[in-house]
Amino acid sequence: MGLANEAVKMVQVSNANRADLGPALEKGNILFFSQTPFELSSHGRQALLSIAEVPGAHHKNIAFKPRAQKITGLSHVPANARGAVENALKSYSEWAIHFVAGLLPAYAHGWQVDYASFRPVEEENRDLPWKKRNDLIHTDAFPSRPTHGGLILRFFTNLNPSQDRVWVVGRPFAAIAPEHAVTAGLLKFAAQAHSPLRRAWSAVLPAARSAGLPVTDRSPYDRFMLAFHDYLKANAEFQNNCPKYQFRFPPGSSWMVFTDIVPHSVISGQYALEQTFIVSPETLSSRAHAPISILESISGTSLAQKAAFAR
Ligand code: SIN
Ligand code: FE
Repeated sequence: MGLANEAVKMVQVSNANRADLGPALEKGNILFFSQTPFELSSHGRQALLSIAEVPGAHHKNIAFKPRAQKITGLSHVPANARGAVENALKSYSEWAIHFVAGLLPAYAHGWQVDYASFRPVEEENRDLPWKKRNDLIHTDAFPSRPTHGGLILRFFTNLNPSQDRVWVVGRPFAAIAPEHAVTAGLLKFAAQAHSPLRRAWSAVLPAARSAGLPVTDRSPYDRFMLAFHDYLKANAEFQNNCPKYQFRFPPGSSWMVFTDIVPHSVISGQYALEQTFIVSPETLSSRAHAPISILESISGTSLAQKAAFAR
């Protein structure tokens, strides 16, 4: 792959390129909207922006789970502000789902709508354990929500009235996987796909789940992606020397990216909103762009069962 294809670009969305948005995202570009075409009510916006002013209120993201219509992370928000915060996050989530479905109808056809979140903490100089640090370049993987090959698409909005959100990203998955996947343990996870233990586990999982046990059904793909997240964060050589691209997202802008295709880090910024979608590889403009396809081709092994995505 030539260098030009590996560079991550910010693509301004316009009427002229609407048909090409899927391929642009899948190659590892960031879609950018200088003006978010949606406004929260001023009451809702104020409620979100006041969260960090409450002592002890800013240690956690607030998450909204659209499918269950449930919100978490509100325990430090004063009781009289919770309703407004919940309504604001809910209306952002509804709008983002509608907006992204309109831009990328093929994805919407097969996606699973995941959580929305509000990120009230200043990212600069955050004191977090290394695995949770957002300023180390990483690809996303969710410990609690295996995707079985589905891709993580995230739509972000910078709600900050005056401060940019600043990211540094690396070359996309297709460029870094050939160099790093085997070192990060890919062949070990691929071998598990055929292990008798793994097969026995898959056979008992449905029973365990219907008995109400909190089991997480991770495919070899999910196990690798979790390990790869940690591998990149722990790899000082990669962090220091990988080619990097910096992007500044100004107040009021939005952007969208596959956060498992594009290794990313956030350097500074406070008050972002975000909606996540799990996109089926079958609905991509080319399945070849999916991390699962790239890993299956490197390892020569099937790493997840296709049917498992459609849960
Ligand atoms: C991340 O997904 O690593 C954080 C991105 C952000 O909050 O800007
Ligand atoms: Fe991330």
